[in-house]
Amino acid sequence: MNDRRRFLQVLGAAALAISAGVPQGCASAAPQQGTEPHGLIKGPLATSVAVGSLAPVGDQAVVLGRDAGGLYAMTAICTHAQCNIRDSGTVSASGLSCGCHGSQFDANGNVIQGPATSPLRHFEVLIETDGTITINADKEVASSVRTPVTG
Ligand code: FES
Repeated sequence: MNDRRRFLQVLGAAALAISAGVPQGCASAAPQQGTEPHGLIKGPLATSVAVGSLAPVGDQAVVLGRDAGGLYAMTAICTHAQCNIRDSGTVSASGLSCGCHGSQFDANGNVIQGPATSPLRHFEVLIETDGTITINADKEVASSVRTPVTG
């Protein structure tokens, strides 16, 4: 009897440990996790990016936007369970929608629908002397930072 009770206690603890490792809102197996962007990511000519646009750029999980203040870049890795929204979701001028569990972010990366609770990280955007964009994914900046486009 004691052995059986001990077995059930161990089984219960294992079930709790497993459920604690599953992100809130996940009803099924863990989604495929994306890789955070890193290094210098080349983009198009700054003047070719339309005001009001938001779109993937380069091969990594990063998106580039432009509003009235200038250019900005954000990760496309969902803050809920790290799905790459470029692969599993949609990116449009109005924001990002994660296809894994339904989180939605506005065009500046703020959460507008969970289960995600944290905004998307922003990265430094540089304009080279030839007018092309470089995103420095190793340097995080505040979500209010913009790189003005002249010309
Ligand atoms: S990874 Fe769960 S909503 Fe994006």
